Amino acid sequence: MGRICFSLLVAAVAFGGFGLSAKAEDSPEIPPMVTLPDGSKTQEGATDEDGKWMLPDGTITYHVNKDGGLDWYSYSGFKRYHDVGGCQQCHGPAGQGSTYAPGLMDSLKTMDFGTFLGTVASGRSRKQGATEYVMPALGDNKNVMCYIEDIYAYLRARSQYAVSVYRPNARIRDPKPEQAKMHEKECFE
Ligand code: HEC
Repeated sequence: MGRICFSLLVAAVAFGGFGLSAKAEDSPEIPPMVTLPDGSKTQEGATDEDGKWMLPDGTITYHVNKDGGLDWYSYSGFKRYHDVGGCQQCHGPAGQGSTYAPGLMDSLKTMDFGTFLGTVASGRSRKQGATEYVMPALGDNKNVMCYIEDIYAYLRARSQYAVSVYRPNARIRDPKPEQAKMHEKECFE
């Protein structure tokens, strides 16, 4: 596991959400979607840090530019979510859920990043009657963990209806920031 992935896991523990669902009363407020003066959309209080939109508490979020294109991270999250063998297989297209697994666009209406990260890294399972519902532990899967913030940003956008269920338009998305290239390189080292 690369350095970055490891530090993400440490962050999960620090957030106190390692594999445990936060109780409703513990959930921090999730800032609503706002329209900025240039007509673009993001979460209230978010700022642009070199192409990465961040909330004051350090949580990544989405940005839909004035042309309706996504920031790089959310766009990348869309791709990773729908990758072969990825989340989409169980959680349905665009985070809408399936008979087997919950709709993550609903989960992210309240789920903070630490809880999300912890659940994806450690997995979870539940038996109901003869069926066992299994969320696999993906903490060792770099194709997931190196892009976990991206996936979160995309699902947050879905949770606030900032993006539709359709494939985002690649021609109007923001370019890939240098920071994202560096993170990728370090994470896969
Ligand atoms: C093999 C099927 C499967 C795959 C692949 C899968 N999940 Fe899950 N996931 C589940 C199931 C089933 C649950 C519910 C488990 C339970 O009921 O405790 C779940 C639960 C979750 C939860 C908790 C949701 C909530 O509301 O509490 C999150 C977050 C999550 N998955 C994220 C992901 C992400 C992100 C990916 C892709 C990187 C992914 N999952 C891939 C089956 C899957």
